[in-house]
Amino acid sequence: MTSTWVEPENTPLALLLLGQGSDPAAERGVECPGELPPPSAPDLVARAAAAKAALGDRVFVLGHHYQRDEVIQFADVTGDSFKLAREAAARPGAEYIVFCGVHFMAESADILTSDAQRVILPDLAAGCSMADMAALSQVEAAWEVLADAGVAGSTVPVTYMNSSADIKGFVGRHGGVVCTSSNARRALDWAFDRGQRVLFLPDQHLGRNTAVLEMGLDADDCVLYDPHKPGGGLTEKQLREAKMILWRGHCSVHGRFTLDSVEEVRRRVPGVTVLVHPECRYEVVTAADQVGSTEYIIKAIEAAPAGSAWAIGTELNLVRRLAKAHPDKEIMFLDRSVCYCSTMNRIDLPHLVWALEELVAGRVVNQITVDPDTARHARAALDQMLALPGAERPVSTARNDWV
Ligand code: 13P
Ligand code: SF4
Repeated sequence: MTSTWVEPENTPLALLLLGQGSDPAAERGVECPGELPPPSAPDLVARAAAAKAALGDRVFVLGHHYQRDEVIQFADVTGDSFKLAREAAARPGAEYIVFCGVHFMAESADILTSDAQRVILPDLAAGCSMADMAALSQVEAAWEVLADAGVAGSTVPVTYMNSSADIKGFVGRHGGVVCTSSNARRALDWAFDRGQRVLFLPDQHLGRNTAVLEMGLDADDCVLYDPHKPGGGLTEKQLREAKMILWRGHCSVHGRFTLDSVEEVRRRVPGVTVLVHPECRYEVVTAADQVGSTEYIIKAIEAAPAGSAWAIGTELNLVRRLAKAHPDKEIMFLDRSVCYCSTMNRIDLPHLVWALEELVAGRVVNQITVDPDTARHARAALDQMLALPGAERPVSTARNDWV
């Protein structure tokens, strides 16, 4: 009998996730050149250590909290998006910034560092599907819609860090600000001091959670702008009356946590504290006990008493690392099934070794560069974020303390 199996066709998206092919419309870049060491090579740890030692102070390695253990061990600093942006800006002496995170983070590092410094993303396929949900052409079209409704002049654009440099440039050009999960409230306060409403890009959940749960706005003050519908699917009246115009974007990783997962863990583990990232849906954040950035989540667990039980709703690499680091506490993953960020996971030890060894050999691979005009405007929006009052505190508040 002959097999009926038909190999599925590669789509442009599948190829991108595999680090092959290119898509100019995607926030992540293009395929990686060069020969990677095989993942099974026995000496990868020693090779990474040797390459790093050979480069010395010329290289600075930044690691986002969602990175794999095999990579995070080589990070000079680990952090959430906000902390990593600040750390990149604070290393003028490092010739090379190797960014173990995703594409939009490396772009922001390039914008915040000097022209003499090179930012390297070990795998260009490490993008962010949420960032891809807001393309510059779509956002420009949305701004036209707002202008036609007579509200663009009284709207301040605010973009989550998880957006392309193009979008940050747009926001900078229109007098707005970037925010991260650790300073969204402060960014929105700043924006509402300057306008009647906010266009919040691209994460509807962070926007809604911050506006409604943290700032006390009414759910009806928020409208959802769908870039795939004419006029965003909204009437001019809706746009005029809205305080928050939320872009229809989301994180597919955090979107997996549901109210059911919260209720199930509460039944299973009496007394458990549910701690989630603000990219989770509104009903999940509402049902949780605490919400905060990845840096906040780490600090909350470090400060927790021995014997306490925690169900954490964020990416699995971080939750697993916390469980290993705190064996005296009961730490569990909020969802029953595995939930990695596939693009964050693109950065593995072979890619890191390859990027570092190429630098030792005098070759810069996978450099991330932002064109000067975009960078100038994006920098204005990033600098505004870094200057927000209280921006030195990279933590969010316990949800129970909100409004
Ligand atoms: P943090 O800024 O909390 O690290 O979040 C970044 C991110 O991409 C979460 O999905
Ligand atoms: Fe993007 Fe979500 Fe991955 Fe964060 S976890 S990098 S928002 S896809």
